[in-house]
Order: sequence, then structure tokens, then C-alpha cells
Amino acid sequence: MIILDGKKTSNDIKNEITEIVQEMKNNGEKVPHLAAVIVGNDGASLTYVGSKVRACERVGFESTMVRMPNTTSETELLKEIEKLNSNPDIDGFIVQLPLPKQIDTQKVLMAVDPDKDVDGFHPTNFGRMALDMSTFIPATPFGILELLDRYNVDTQGKHTVVIGRSHIVGRPMSILMGRKGFPGNSTVTLTHSHTKNITQITSQADIIITALGVPGFLKAEMVKDDAVIIDVGITRVPDESRERGYYITGDVDYENVSKKASHITPVPGGVGPMTIAMLLKNTLLARERHRA
Ligand code: GUN
Repeated sequence: MIILDGKKTSNDIKNEITEIVQEMKNNGEKVPHLAAVIVGNDGASLTYVGSKVRACERVGFESTMVRMPNTTSETELLKEIEKLNSNPDIDGFIVQLPLPKQIDTQKVLMAVDPDKDVDGFHPTNFGRMALDMSTFIPATPFGILELLDRYNVDTQGKHTVVIGRSHIVGRPMSILMGRKGFPGNSTVTLTHSHTKNITQITSQADIIITALGVPGFLKAEMVKDDAVIIDVGITRVPDESRERGYYITGDVDYENVSKKASHITPVPGGVGPMTIAMLLKNTLLARERHRA
């Protein structure tokens, strides 16, 4: 059984990006600049954005965090997005989700300039992805492709089962795994809350990508021998005995499923760190496109 080590792989990618940024600096060029907008005080969101900003520092990018209160109106947020769209110093930016309920998320994502949309959430970029055109691929699916690629996992002609149809992970993943090329050329089944008899489907899968957010959902009896298991679940389970007051767990019953799998991602240390590395990669891509 091979552990797909997202922590190590993301470190490799960050080192590669650091070298490219150093080269930019040596040539007197502007370095990539990522901005992150965060509305409100959600603990997980603040942790994620903090990690993104630290990752920028680590590779030599410039970064800007824009913090707005929980009471921010849609108009105020749209105004902030307009400022970032028109600021030539910013190469790419993200609006951390979820947003407070008075704000229409779709409207906000539509307002981001597709050329600065390093999350790849704008409908233009999502459409470009579905049509095999160059675009920003959403960071989590992009990170999974990169892990499969770097570990030479064969996806060609394989049956990939995706669990969960979120706009951020499941839906784009189902498109990407079925695209021409590598990693891709898979036969994809997208399953969700209305799927009947899910065990019958998952037990036929060569590759399972689960993005549900239900701890321990994928059990050993749902998986065939030598399947490749990608766990995108990140759930905080309250636990007073830990210093942070919680622990992080995935969608997979790791102890039992790992005994059957050929490859598996741990949680934490699998897909999570890859997401941040690929956001950096998209920001570098944005800088290169703006320079061209
Ligand atoms: N919330 C959870 N994942 C993400 C992500 O990849 N990007 C943004 N902007 N918000 C998120």
C-alpha cells in the first residue's frame, strides 16, 4: 500500500515555485501577488486563509489579506472585489467561502475578473475547464490531479467513482477525471445524496474520490481490493482532550480501508496541503499570463 503524501508533495511544489520566484527577483521582475478576502470570523476559514498567506511568504509571493466584518453587505463586498479587479498590482485573489447569509455567493463569484480568479470558481473558468481550454483549475481538484500524476497512478480506462457533487470538489473532479489526457481518460460515476445502493457502485471502483464531509463514511466493505482512495473530507471533531479542542478526520475509515487499498491519502497530510500548493501554482500562472 502506497500513501499519497500530500505534505511532502506540496513541499516539493513549493520548493519548485520558490526557485521560479527567485529567478523572477534576480531578473528584477515583479513577483506574484495573491489577495484573499475573508468575511466574518469563521474559525476554519480563518485557519485556511492564514495558511494561504503563510504559504505565500514561504515561496516569496506578495500577499494581502482583506478582512471584512460578518455584517458586511453584498454591495460592500462587491465594491471590494471591484477594487481588486482593477488593481494592477494584484495578480489573483480569492473570496474565502462560505460567506455570511446576507450575501449571494453566486453573485460574488460572478463579479471576480476571470483573469484573476485563481480559485477557478467563475462560470467562465468552469466552462473553459469543461471544454478543455486553458484556465484556472480549482485548487483542490488540481491538487488531486497533481498527486495522481506525481505518484504515476494509472487513471486510463479506470472506473473512477466520485462521492459528492459540490461545486468546489465533486463536480469539477468528475469532469477532470473524464477529460482526454493524463491524469484523465477515466470512466466516471458521480454519486451524491440521491444515489441508490452506493456500495454496489463504490465496490466496482478502481479509484474512489470522496468529498462528503461525513467522518468514516467510506468503509472497507464498500471498497474492492487494490482500489485507489482519495479522501477530500476535512471534518473538525470536537475533542476536549486535545490542545486545539478538536481533531481533523476524513470521509474514509482509514484503519480498515488502508488494508485493502493500493494507494490512499491520509487526513490530515493528503489532499489538504495540495490545495494550498495548487493555489500558489494558479497565482504564478496568473502572473505569467499578466506579464505576457
Ligand atoms: N472554502 C473551502 N474551500 C475553499 C477554496 O478552495 N476556496 C475558497 N475561496 N473558499 C473555500
